[in-house]
Parts: sequence; C-alpha cells; structure tokens
Amino acid sequence: GTSVITLDDLSIAQINELLDKARYIDTHRKDVAHTCDGRVLATLFYEPSTRTRLSFETAMLRLGGKVIGFAGAQLASVTKGESISDTLKTVSNYVDVVAIRHPKEGAALVAASAASVPVINAGDGGHMHPTQTLADLATLRSRFGRVNDLTIGLCGDLTFGRTVHSLIETLCRFGNVRFVLISPKELRTPQYVLNRINATKDCSYVEVSDLSEVIGDLDALYMTRVQKERFFNEDDYLRLRDTYILDEAKLRRAKPTMAVLHPLPRVNEIAKDVDDDPRAAYFEQVRNGMLMRMALESSVLGDELPGFDAYVNKE
Ligand code: CP
Repeated sequence: GTSVITLDDLSIAQINELLDKARYIDTHRKDVAHTCDGRVLATLFYEPSTRTRLSFETAMLRLGGKVIGFAGAQLASVTKGESISDTLKTVSNYVDVVAIRHPKEGAALVAASAASVPVINAGDGGHMHPTQTLADLATLRSRFGRVNDLTIGLCGDLTFGRTVHSLIETLCRFGNVRFVLISPKELRTPQYVLNRINATKDCSYVEVSDLSEVIGDLDALYMTRVQKERFFNEDDYLRLRDTYILDEAKLRRAKPTMAVLHPLPRVNEIAKDVDDDPRAAYFEQVRNGMLMRMALESSVLGDELPGFDAYVNKE
C-alpha cells in the first residue's frame, strides 16, 4: 500500500473512489464490518487531537481491525530522545498501517521513509492535513453534488492552518474554483500555496480582510481557528484570535444555500447560534471524517469492501 502524506499521493480517480466508498460504507455498515479483520492500526500522536485520532481508531474498529498507539508523546520513548525514523522502524514490526500526527512540518514524510507499512499523515505542523481534506470534499460533495465550480471563502488563520493548505492544494487539482482568502494581513496564505493556485489555469484567488464584504458571494465558507500553538509570540495570538466571529447576524448577508465548514476544534470563530442554521455543515464534516478514514484505511491496506464493486457499477 502507498503512504498518504499529502493528497497529491492519490490520483483524482482514487480520491473520487474514496468518496464513493465512504458513501457506500455509510449505508452498508454491517457488510463492511469484517473488511479489516486481523489488521492492526497504530496511531502515533505527538500532538493533541480529538477528532482525527478518535475517528482513525473508530474507523479501524468498525472495519473489524484493532488499534494500538499513544496520544501525547509524553509516555513514548521520544522523551528519551528516540527519532521518528527509529520509532517507525520499530512500529512497522507491530502493525499494518500507521497514522501519525506531529508538530513539525515534514515529520510524516520522514516517518513514511522509515516505515515498511503505509503511513497516513494525520497533520504535520502547519503543513498538511490530507484526511481532513477528504472529510471536507465529502461534505462539499454532499451539499453541492460536486467539489468544484464553486466560490469558496477560507477565513481566519491562513498562514498556519494546515487544513486550508491541504484543501486548496486538492481543489486546484479538481479545477475551476474561485478562492476568496479572508485573513488579517499577518495571517495571509503562504506563497507555496498561492503558487499552486497561480499554476492552475482555471482557478483564481483574491485576498481580503473583511468577511462581511464578501460573504454574499460565497458558495461555501471555510472558517478556521487561529492556531495558537504555532505562534512565536503570545501577544500576536491574543491580538489576532478574535478577528472573525461568524454569527447569525453576519450570516444574514450570505446565500441561503451557503455551507459553513470548519475543521474543528472551534474557539470563538463560530458563535453557537450558527449551529442550528441549516447552512452549518461542520458536524457533518466530523461524520464524513470517520467515513472517509474507513474508506482510506481499507484502501491503503488493499482490503476490498464486500459489495462495493456491484454498488458502484449499478450507480
Ligand atoms: N480537525 C481536526 O484535526 O481535529 P483534531 O485536532 O481534534 O483531531
């Protein structure tokens, strides 16, 4: 099986197949419950997580496999100075697939180079978060029937928000997306991500600072948390953290069909009164995250979902 460090490691056909598989899994839970019997997943989380770790683990359990790992590196031998490479050479003896989250950009790639089993990046610093993007794509597809031919606003911490970087990278491959990048000037999108948009002939972007000014133009609004853990200076964080707060008053200017996405966890950037608005899609994203991880885990292991081929051929 292949490792997934960024979604560039998968073809568009493979991503579309994962989207189809997640939809199949959702309605055929019993049929897929033994897909990964005898398999073991390791979750190596050197950084906090609620959704990603628990959904990777639930996904494997729901496919019939088992799970080992650590949540927070304080009990692992990294505290004695062990390298990522040695850890992965070790864990490769125990399991069939690894999901790793690490505060350093590039850590997942180092892990994959050392491992002899597939490694899935569960977030590497401010760089990439490919499985979150799979959840985001599934949510866009369920809301709009497609993931492109859309105007998508991304709002908040566009510098350190790895979910934003992964999503833009992948949407550029689907093509025909207008990005509205909404951030304070201190938290603009990194150049390597902008280069990706520039290199895609039917995608475009604008950079703005005012959410209210552009919200009426958007098909989807992807809100993000200001990434406290990536700041060098606490004063900067405190000054910037509440720049954008989406509430019902702001949503009045938005299209009735606009979808509000957020990878979660949120702090203040979406008011709780938005949760009951039909445009709120962020808890759908959570659910899609688990289904997409079930699809991805079974795929990287080469374990076929019983009944899936007949289901897609019928569609
Ligand atoms: N969306 C996301 O990655 O959430 P966690 O940090 O809780 O895993």
